[in-house]
Amino acid sequence: MIGITDRIEGVLAQFLSPAVRKSVIDCGVRQARVDRDSMREADLRRLLVEVKRGVQLFVRDQVQLERCVSQLNELDYAAPAPREILVDVRTEEDVLRARSAGRELCIEQMVSDVLLTKIVTAISELGRNIVRYAGSGEISVRSIMSPQRAIEICAKDQGPGITNLAEILSGKYRSRHGMGAGLRGTKALMDEFDIQTGPGKGTVVTVRKLLG
Ligand SMILES: Nc1ncnc2c1ncn2[C@@H]1O[C@H](COP(=O)(O)OP(=O)(O)O)[C@@H](O)[C@H]1O
Ligand SMILES: [Mg+2]
Repeated sequence: MIGITDRIEGVLAQFLSPAVRKSVIDCGVRQARVDRDSMREADLRRLLVEVKRGVQLFVRDQVQLERCVSQLNELDYAAPAPREILVDVRTEEDVLRARSAGRELCIEQMVSDVLLTKIVTAISELGRNIVRYAGSGEISVRSIMSPQRAIEICAKDQGPGITNLAEILSGKYRSRHGMGAGLRGTKALMDEFDIQTGPGKGTVVTVRKLLG
């Protein structure tokens, strides 16, 4: 992979001054512990992760940042394409199918076991809530590349909605089902958590786990 740092530099040149891009690359090389002169695919992947971290500190404009990250991702030949799996959820068995979808995407994206477990736990909690409280809905699991690599889970239903959300998220609410992580636990497991819910609106929970 000769000249890969030159190609990274070529991308950064559109977004950062010479001094800043040099330091982003030097710092990335150090953090990722790669040897510039003999880089393998896995080294490149680690280097790109570090360079993207650096870029996030210095490219403040969101649109520019996304453009820069997506160009960097194009340098990563081995990166699997982002994709989405949609599962209709009515039964406990559908929840298992959604879990399998999550597992599949995690493996494809080389997610660690620890993160994979968190992700499938979140899918179970959100899926069981759909089955139990809304009757039916859908879960989508997506791998995303920008602005940061992540796995996103979106659980959607047209059920009765949640009226006491603040209480539930504060931890005052006692779950009827005891041991589950619930919504609060799911929030704690994930890096980003968004919920839109209310009577007549149904419930949409979107969570993301960042993959570094
Ligand atoms: N998709 C949903 N639609 C309607 N109500 C929901 C939904 N998800 C959760 N809830 C309500 O929020 C409460 C808290 O959910 P959760 O934190 O998962 O704990 P648990 O399911 O153990 O009660 C549920 O008891 C239920 O009343
Ligand atoms: Mg629950």
